[in-house]
Amino acid sequence: MGEERTEAWWGRRAWALLSAVRARAPLVQCITNLVSMDIAANALTAAGASPAMLHCIREIPDFTPRCHAVYINVGTLSEDWLPSMRAAASAGRPWVLDPVAAAASQFRMEACLELLALPPAVVRGNASEILALAARSDSSPTFKGVDSSHDSGEVLQAAKALARSSGTVVAVSGAVDFITDGEQVISASNGVAMMQKITATGCAVTALIAAFVGADPSDALAAAACALAIFGLAGEIGMESAKGPASLRMHLIDALYGLDEQTVTSGVKIALLP
Ligand SMILES: *[C@@H]1O[C@H](CO)[C@@H](O)[C@H](O)[C@H]1NC(C)=O
Repeated sequence: MGEERTEAWWGRRAWALLSAVRARAPLVQCITNLVSMDIAANALTAAGASPAMLHCIREIPDFTPRCHAVYINVGTLSEDWLPSMRAAASAGRPWVLDPVAAAASQFRMEACLELLALPPAVVRGNASEILALAARSDSSPTFKGVDSSHDSGEVLQAAKALARSSGTVVAVSGAVDFITDGEQVISASNGVAMMQKITATGCAVTALIAAFVGADPSDALAAAACALAIFGLAGEIGMESAKGPASLRMHLIDALYGLDEQTVTSGVKIALLP
């Protein structure tokens, strides 16, 4: 399979992808929840991408085909937005799904399953969200879903099964992030716990994954792993100056904007699991 993917290889890959985002300024259409719009748009802009926060269905046929990628997030789902999500996901552009609180209601779960079938290049959720989706999309459900204890082995099995049944890359965020295409599993271990005290950081990193996929659609697995590691690295650097969640939010965005080659190649912690 060619070159061995060492930690140094991943460092160079992450820098190449961030450089591609900065050079190409991919246009990323975001249909995302109301709470996350500001941080997602700012994270995308700081990374060098070009966010467009359009969700009106009447604009999608003209606008979405011109985008490099689409980011869809069901956090503040409504009956009005679902047709826009469906249309944008079907516009022939690579797209990324954030199934926020997928199991919160039957309507939301069915919307997530319907969108997953379109299918996205990447779905990124936390352990509860991925377990819940895997439990519903597996024909022989072996996953207990949101109420289970989130044993990391079980979460990995669920992520792999979901990746295989949906034909998508699945990224599970946590203290360590796991990214899988159903065969290979990659870990990304950058980040600091304080990031979870900032609302919508998960949404912002999913938007960043869409920007990376938009800049280089050839390898969604690498794009997802590198975006997660780079966002986490920006959090680590931001934390050096932060006093709490509000100042971390500011310093994280500054760090993302200022990342240089040396910092990225030596700072990202990505590994292929055996
Ligand atoms: C995952 O995110 C949802 C929505 O924010 C939250 O309700 C749930 O507690 C989270 N689960 C984990 C394991 O972090």
